[in-house]
Amino acid sequence: MFAAMDRQRALRYSIATVLSITGLIVVLALLQQLLVPVLVYCFPGLDTPFYDLGLFGAYPTHDYLSFNLSSPRSTRVRWHESCDRGNVFIDPGGPSTDHRGPMILDGTGNLVWTSDQYETTTNLKVQRYRGNDFLTFWSGHKAKTMGTGSYYMLDESYEVVHKVDAIGDGLKADLHEFKITNDGTALLTVYNKTQADLTAMGWFRGKNGWIVDNLFQEVDIATGRLLFEWKASDHFNAEDSYMTNPFGGYSEGIPFDFFHINSIEKDRNGNYLISSRHFHSVMGIDGKTGEVMWELGGHSEDFEDLSDGLASDFSWQHDARWLDEEAGIMTLFDNGVAWPHVDAPYSEGRVIRVDVEKHTAELLHTYVSLQHARSSSQGSVQFIDTGEGEEHVFVGWGSSAAFSEFTTDGDLLCETHFAASASFWWERVKSYRAFKSVDWRGTPKAWDPSAAIEGGKLAVSWNGATEVAFWELQGAVIRDGQEQGGWKELDIMDRDGFETLFLLPARSAKSDSGESYTHFRVAALDAERNVLRTSNATTRAPRGFGAYLLVITSAVLCVGAIVAFWQYRKRGWKTADWRQYAQSAVDRTKYQKLW
Ligand SMILES: *[C@@H]1O[C@H](CO)[C@@H](O)[C@H](O)[C@H]1NC(C)=O
Ligand SMILES: *[C@@H]1O[C@H](CO)[C@@H](O)[C@H](O)[C@H]1NC(C)=O
Repeated sequence: MFAAMDRQRALRYSIATVLSITGLIVVLALLQQLLVPVLVYCFPGLDTPFYDLGLFGAYPTHDYLSFNLSSPRSTRVRWHESCDRGNVFIDPGGPSTDHRGPMILDGTGNLVWTSDQYETTTNLKVQRYRGNDFLTFWSGHKAKTMGTGSYYMLDESYEVVHKVDAIGDGLKADLHEFKITNDGTALLTVYNKTQADLTAMGWFRGKNGWIVDNLFQEVDIATGRLLFEWKASDHFNAEDSYMTNPFGGYSEGIPFDFFHINSIEKDRNGNYLISSRHFHSVMGIDGKTGEVMWELGGHSEDFEDLSDGLASDFSWQHDARWLDEEAGIMTLFDNGVAWPHVDAPYSEGRVIRVDVEKHTAELLHTYVSLQHARSSSQGSVQFIDTGEGEEHVFVGWGSSAAFSEFTTDGDLLCETHFAASASFWWERVKSYRAFKSVDWRGTPKAWDPSAAIEGGKLAVSWNGATEVAFWELQGAVIRDGQEQGGWKELDIMDRDGFETLFLLPARSAKSDSGESYTHFRVAALDAERNVLRTSNATTRAPRGFGAYLLVITSAVLCVGAIVAFWQYRKRGWKTADWRQYAQSAVDRTKYQKLW
């Protein structure tokens, strides 16, 4: 008897628990699906805070009708109109992204080009080679902090013109650097797993430990000839690394990444500037002998710091570049953090002046994101020409999915988040570097504009095309493969972001020949209204069952409403009956003691 009662009670409790959890989920889902959009509609200012809290998801995306890949629905947390010129080059990756690949956005965040033809990509940028602009990036397989792949150079029609590889037996191009020099050569990084004596690191690491050795190479792009090679293990010891890895170095499976080179520059004298993340230093490398000429930061005491330590206290940094070789001015991205090491409260871009003769270093400027992003990895700093004779500083926040634009003095002008900032900590979405350029002009060769019809709308886009200013909608009557009277211009619209929507003429609208248009297509026009290319021709789906269902449902509802109104006019509401019915239902439940 009691056992039966307990069982009944347990059943009741579990049903109640399941119902409450389901209820809670339904309420939260309703809030997210209904309340959030309504609130954002009524108070547009809430869009950005809601976005950053992740209420739209960690990585909200834009989907398109005429294109099968999505792009981030980014949010501008700070905006100034001087940022709208030029394009932004990123490679969104990380667990929350749906496709990894190179991506160009315009100044206001609209998609310009993306591709899923390449594996993981990094370091998308525009570089000049022999007088022409190329879209360059690394593509390949990423394993933890290193990559094995190749570098690609695409011309303005998005065709691969050069593919550059590392030179040497078993050596593969790494993801961190691909820099084209003024001499038509490429500087590239190689991460090579190899054995080394790690006795000095202790903890039973022996003579036959495993490290990731870092090489950099200078390669002639046209001939593939190796011109220079430098190897970190020739100059630095693994035990001096700031990086710690309790499991690293014992086995081939977990080699110790002691140096972590992540940028290379060549100067006019033929010497190199490199950045070692795990030594917290940047260094000058002699272009003939490979000797380390000087080292700033880390263990080095080569330089007197004129800024009370602030010029040389950077850590886990990326992207060291000469801004002005002669004046000794360089830029770098100071991460300050590399989990589990937290050496700074936030990451920042830096401008530092070094005098390699007098051995002095001075911090000139810093660039900090609006919410003081802490980027545990990746990141970049770039001085850009805004196209209006002004200089801005463009910073990519690496493992934090954001990029910012500053005045050279460090005032934040613009900042865009392409994932919720609440998820930055978890590195759900990242871009190795972010780059901005006013120079990229692209007109795809291998694919045409793409048009798709849904409902009464036609959507058109042309992945990668930067020169389209207008879209011209055209209609034709085509029967049995025969055009009746040719294509007629129906409408013209300014290009509006990645995808532009046309309202199609009503199905009943007649062409000159007195028949309805059967086919539509769109011509891409440049600023002078020259036709660049024409899209596929597309037709409307026949009026589907859905449309009829809608008509029938509406008719039934209308008739119902009329009948109800008529009844009401005749007899009024008989509320008493309803109350009685409800009371009896309550009584019935009470006596049956369901609960
Ligand atoms: C998208 O379309 C392109 C070209 O039509 C095709 O090559 C690619 O595989 C498609 N991608 C997906 C994810 O469907
Ligand atoms: C790369 O590593 C292999 C061992 O894995 C080694 O034999 C080779 O010498 C290394 N290459 C260079 C250039 O250091």
